[in-house]
This record gives sequence, C-alpha cells and structure tokens, in this order.
Amino acid sequence: MFKEGLLKGKRILVTGGGTGLGKEMATHYASLGADIVICGRRLNVLEETADEIKSNHDVDVLAQSLDIRSPQDVDDFIDQIFATKPLDGLVNNAAGNFISPTKMLSPRGFDAIANIVFHGTFYVTHSVGRRWIEAGLKGNIISILATWVWTGSPYVVPSAMSKSAINAMTKSLAVEWGPYNIRVNAIAPGPFPTEGAWARLSPKGDLDNDSSYSAIPLGRVGEMSELQNLASFLMADGCDYLTGQTIAIDGAQYITGGGTFSGLSKLKDSDWEEIKSMIKSTNEKDKANRNT
Ligand code: HXC
Repeated sequence: MFKEGLLKGKRILVTGGGTGLGKEMATHYASLGADIVICGRRLNVLEETADEIKSNHDVDVLAQSLDIRSPQDVDDFIDQIFATKPLDGLVNNAAGNFISPTKMLSPRGFDAIANIVFHGTFYVTHSVGRRWIEAGLKGNIISILATWVWTGSPYVVPSAMSKSAINAMTKSLAVEWGPYNIRVNAIAPGPFPTEGAWARLSPKGDLDNDSSYSAIPLGRVGEMSELQNLASFLMADGCDYLTGQTIAIDGAQYITGGGTFSGLSKLKDSDWEEIKSMIKSTNEKDKANRNT
C-alpha cells in the first residue's frame, strides 16, 4: 500500500510497544524504514520485540522499561531520547483496562486505569511536545483511543472517561500546537483482538461469539494490517493538513447502534419484499378510504 522507505529517517516512539497493537504498529513503521523506540513495563518483552524487529528490518531500535505513570521517569526517558536523536513521531498506545461493573470498582481500581491512560498519556505527550516546541521541530502525535470516546461504554467506565479526555486533548493540542507544526490525531479502533486486551475485556470469550460481531456491518473484527496502514498513513508526510481528528476504524460498528433502523441490516431480500407488499397494501387501503 505504501512506497518503500516511506518513513525513512524518522524516529518514532510507541508507548506500550512491546506487545499487542503497539508492537504491530512499531513493526510496520520499521518495515517502512523508521527508527523505533519502544517502552513499557516489562523489559524482557520489549527486548524480545526489539530483537524481532531488528532481525527483520535494517533500522535502529531502542527498547527501554518505563512506567508512564511516573512523570519524572517519563521526562528523564524523553530527555535521554532527544539527547541522542529527536523524535519525529509519538504513538500514545500504552493503556490499561478491564471489564467490571462500575458499582464493584474501588477508587484504586479506577486509578489503576486513569493513572495510565489519562495521566500517563498526558505526561508523555507533554514531555515530547515541549521539546519539539523548544527545538522548533515538526512533530506528529497519534493516540490510540476507542470508539467509546463518542458513545461512552458500560463496564469500562474508567477507560471510557480517560480515553474521552485524550480525545479532548487531541483536539485541544491540534489547535494550540498547530502553529508549531505539530499534528495531533487519534485512532479509535473497534475490535482488533490481541492477547493482552482480550484477556481483560473478554476473559470468557463473550466478545467473540457471533451475536457480538454480527452487529458489525462488515461482519468481522479488524485485521491488524488495516490498523497498521492507518497508523502509517497518519504518521507519513503527505497528509500534513490532517490534524485534530479521531478516526474510527471499526467496520462501522459504533454508528450501527446510532440509527433507529440500523438493526434492519439483518433482513433478507425476501423480508424486504414482504415489507414492501405490506406497505403497499396499507397505502392502497388508505387510497380506497379516501375515495369512499
Ligand atoms: C475490579 C479490579 C480488577 C477487576 C484490578 N482491579 N482488576 N477491580 N475488577 N478485574 C482493582 C484491584 O482490586 C485494585 O484495587 C486496583 O484495581 C489495582 O489492582 P492491581 O492488580 O494492583 O492493578 P495493576 O497492577 O495496576 O494492574 C491493573 C492494570 C493491568 C493496570 C489494568 O491489568 C495492566 O497492567 N494492564 C495493561 C494491559 C491492558 O490492560 N491491556 C488492555 C488494554 S485494552 P483495590 O482497591 O482492590 O486495591 C484498551 C482498550 C481496547 O485499553 C479497546 C478495544 C475495543
């Protein structure tokens, strides 16, 4: 889909880049020539991913453990990165989530998610953005959100609240940092099953049964390459006028519930023939009544 070397010369930080969606995006950026920095809480996992990327692609990969909940650790880490070579792109991918009835959440349970998604994402964005502005460098930020930034979502309320805040950050900073040539966008993926997320969001497999996915107009979950392509498109030069947007990639899942008639996509042609003749017969009865 993209020309070879599209991202050559760029250095991109992907938080939570050792596993899941973060690993997929980091790997794709590397395949397009970008140098990669990945961080997360488990160094062994990060190092494995870094080795895998390096063995397949001729790019520089730095992997370092970082807990984005600590603003000082974040700032030290970003300082160290910029001291060697400034970043060109940042992907705010690190997140935490689990399904739970809200009435069963403790304040610490709420904080476990909010401290990562809400606070941590801001710490990283702020630390990177400030350095771009100080150095007069162009920058590109992509945050990985979820479609519940528009709809809200039961059973993942701390995540829905925190990701909605990052959606607000995306739009706010696109305006505030636009004059500095820093683009700020977000991706709202629908279901792209990964081991880490699905163990916490669908531990009993509830998300994977047919009734959950038959509501998606495209009738399937997302393919990782589709997410990788969108993340690379947004990261590349060439769409520099695109900023302040949160783009859903969900097979139209979230808007399906939004219309009164959305559920009718289940009807077959034969159902529609029947409906048509029922409506016709109502119209004819009305006409006959008007003529009497
Ligand atoms: C209720 C829970 C709970 C659960 C933890 N807690 N799990 N409460 N139901 N299932 C509560 C605990 O009781 C405790 O409160 C508090 O949360 C902290 O618990 P810890 O075990 O100490 O939490 P911690 O070690 O911080 O780990 C929690 C976590 C962890 C940060 C969320 O799961 C994690 O590291 N996750 C990272 C990976 C991840 O979550 N990936 C999924 C991202 S998916 P008390 O009061 O009892 O002490 C995503 C969106 C995907 O973001 C969109 C798809 C459509």
